[in-house]
Amino acid sequence: MNIILLGPPGAGKGTQARLLVEERGMVQLSTGDMLREARQSGTDMGRRVAEVMDKGHLVTDEIVIGLIREKIEAGATGSGIIFDGFPRTLAQADALEALLREQGMRLDRAIEMQVDDEVLVDRVSGRSTCATCGEVYHDRTKPVPEDGHCTVCGGSKFNRRADDNAESLKTRLLAYYKQTSPLIGYYHCKGILAAVDGLRDVPQVASEIARLLGDHA
Ligand code: AP5
Ligand code: ZN
Repeated sequence: MNIILLGPPGAGKGTQARLLVEERGMVQLSTGDMLREARQSGTDMGRRVAEVMDKGHLVTDEIVIGLIREKIEAGATGSGIIFDGFPRTLAQADALEALLREQGMRLDRAIEMQVDDEVLVDRVSGRSTCATCGEVYHDRTKPVPEDGHCTVCGGSKFNRRADDNAESLKTRLLAYYKQTSPLIGYYHCKGILAAVDGLRDVPQVASEIARLLGDHA
């Protein structure tokens, strides 16, 4: 089954996507991760992407649709795809539908993760990520172990994101409400929208999502 995790920055999309990969063998397609990889490449495109991301604006539809197209056409499907942070505009949503249709696939669920704005600031400002395996930590709710090693891979380098500051977060939130939140109505009309309470703790959110996907496991 193919699903979208929809929600504002810091809602927990990446955290839940990793659990679904682990528990269900699904494939996570995160446009944020793909763009962060692209910016490491040192190409002109990478530099342009870095500038846009650090300010908290959306990268162009053309670039992100191209990235997703490459993955889908390469057959990266596992036991289903989790679209994490994509689509983020109506143009992206239309493109995704067409891309999946071309491959004889469809979207089964769009899961909206609902979290209050005040909580997002705390989530994002406390976040760090294992540089080796991408495991997501939080200074307060899921701190890096005292021995300084990642619980998943044992790595000892952790990154903070350049866009995880108050200024960028404001812009990212605005982009979410202006450009991405219309997708909630879009998927509601298509009959595949479901919402989860993203304010609950990680295992509780995971079991809410599991319940939504249960019939299709
Ligand atoms: P992207 O990487 O997609 O970032 P985002 O949407 O801003 O989402 P985040 O990764 O910040 O949050 P998340 O929901 O994954 O939360 P997480 O699980 O890490 O995009 C970055 C940028 O790339 C965009 O601004 C844009 O420029 C560009 N971009 C990407 N996709 C694009 C697209 N399609 N079109 C155009 N541009 C695009 O959790 C956050 C923290 O909270 C962690 O510390 C975690 O440990 C903690 N946490 C998680 N769940 C819980 C919980 N239930 N309780 C307590 N703490 C929790
Ligand atoms: Zn790790």
